[in-house]
Amino acid sequence: MRARSRTSASTSAPLRDAEQPTPIRDLAEHELARLPTGIGELDRVLGGGLVPGSLVLLGGEPGVGKSTLVLAAAAGLATGPHRSAGAGAPPIARPGPPGTSRPGAEARRAGAMASAAGRAGPVVLYASGEESGGQLRLRARRLGITDGPAGEAILVFAETDVERIVERARSVHPTVLVVDSIQTVSLDELDGPPGSVGQVRESALRLLQYAKGDGTPVVLVGHVTKDGSLAGPKTLEHLVDAVLTLEGERGGGMRLLRATKNRFGSTEEVGVFAMGEDGLREVADPARAFLAESGTAAPGSVIAATLEGSRPLLVEVQALVAPAAYGTPRRTASGLDQNRLALLIAVLARRAGIALAAHDVYASVAGGLAIEEPALDLPLALALASSLRDRPVRPGTVAAGEIGLLGELRPVSGLAWRLREAERLGFDRAIVPRAGRSSEPVPERVGGLSVLACRSLREAISAALVPEPAGPVPF
Ligand code: TYD
Ligand code: MG
Repeated sequence: MRARSRTSASTSAPLRDAEQPTPIRDLAEHELARLPTGIGELDRVLGGGLVPGSLVLLGGEPGVGKSTLVLAAAAGLATGPHRSAGAGAPPIARPGPPGTSRPGAEARRAGAMASAAGRAGPVVLYASGEESGGQLRLRARRLGITDGPAGEAILVFAETDVERIVERARSVHPTVLVVDSIQTVSLDELDGPPGSVGQVRESALRLLQYAKGDGTPVVLVGHVTKDGSLAGPKTLEHLVDAVLTLEGERGGGMRLLRATKNRFGSTEEVGVFAMGEDGLREVADPARAFLAESGTAAPGSVIAATLEGSRPLLVEVQALVAPAAYGTPRRTASGLDQNRLALLIAVLARRAGIALAAHDVYASVAGGLAIEEPALDLPLALALASSLRDRPVRPGTVAAGEIGLLGELRPVSGLAWRLREAERLGFDRAIVPRAGRSSEPVPERVGGLSVLACRSLREAISAALVPEPAGPVPF
């Protein structure tokens, strides 16, 4: 990829004027103005709403619900209390259906945009390179936003040329510009097809300049494949202000939204949604949202008490081990760290007598989530042991703990939160590390939940699995 002209986006005007260096003591502190989208779970992850002039990337696998979320946010922005784009504006002309080729449709659209530019309320300009106006309209109808103020204030615009998108945005002055998706837009002056690394990067840079220069937040939608192989969104991460990712199984109903980067807020917060017939619904009590309903104890299944930011989430970790037919055994991880899996397999073999060297190993987090926290070690190791021994973990059990190279269990953060939540959801046994963080001693019991504090992985395995069928059954 090579820029043909020297006026490529990355080499043109600086983003803002140079300022005089100022003693830090004299710098003005100011609260960031925010544009709340009105979707609580999204605003929570954004840190309160969109920040003027910010560039936000919303990434996720195709079909996960990015366009749905962005459209719902656009509707929220359009109907919520926001800065005014100009008082005494004329009434809004309704844009003709986008994508139509009737004579005059283009002129009417331009007219609608022009009048919306002077509109008193907020306007969201939605540049769609991904779908036709008709498809967007269909989705909007499912979401129930075609009528009312959102139906007028969201201006759809099927365009893939970045310069033309920016030009249009400069004339419309939207409250927010959405580009769906960054892989479908391109700059004319560059070689390479849309979606190539150079196009994605330079297009984003151009939109960044617009965002900073104009003070308008820009939301980019970006596709990421399961293995993260698509270079696009990865190359964008350093130049955008915030990276939000939407996770979840396409078939399944639950979605988790996280900020993997946020210059204007915490990356600790997560948002939880359920995908339904009429779009994404916010899930106010998400702790058990990702648990399978079956409740049956199958070998290889363990409930992990994880913590996503300040929110405890109980998720099911599943493992399947089977004798390897030939060659190097397979290790397949989905939603969890492959290296961590390899390390735990080694620790299990050397420190707990669970030999998996000749077995294929498949491990996953149910519900399409990706969980990275260290406390997942223990549930994962227990799931592997349970599958190999073909003995289920006792029903009603949750686990959380980091595992060291010596097979010792290490404390996890927020243990009290995790335990309280497990108790609230009706679990009655928790297997956790004995060593507590100094400020957080491990209790023996939390309400109806008995806490089994273990020192080692070996100890945790014998506490977790149901006894051998021949053995006595204590109750
Ligand atoms: P979409 O937002 O198009 O995903 P993305 O932009 O990330 O590719 O959502 C795709 C899926 O969501 C699609 O399979 C249909 C489903 N869906 C619903 O289940 N309910 C709805 O109300 C909508 C709009 C979509
Ligand atoms: Mg989409």
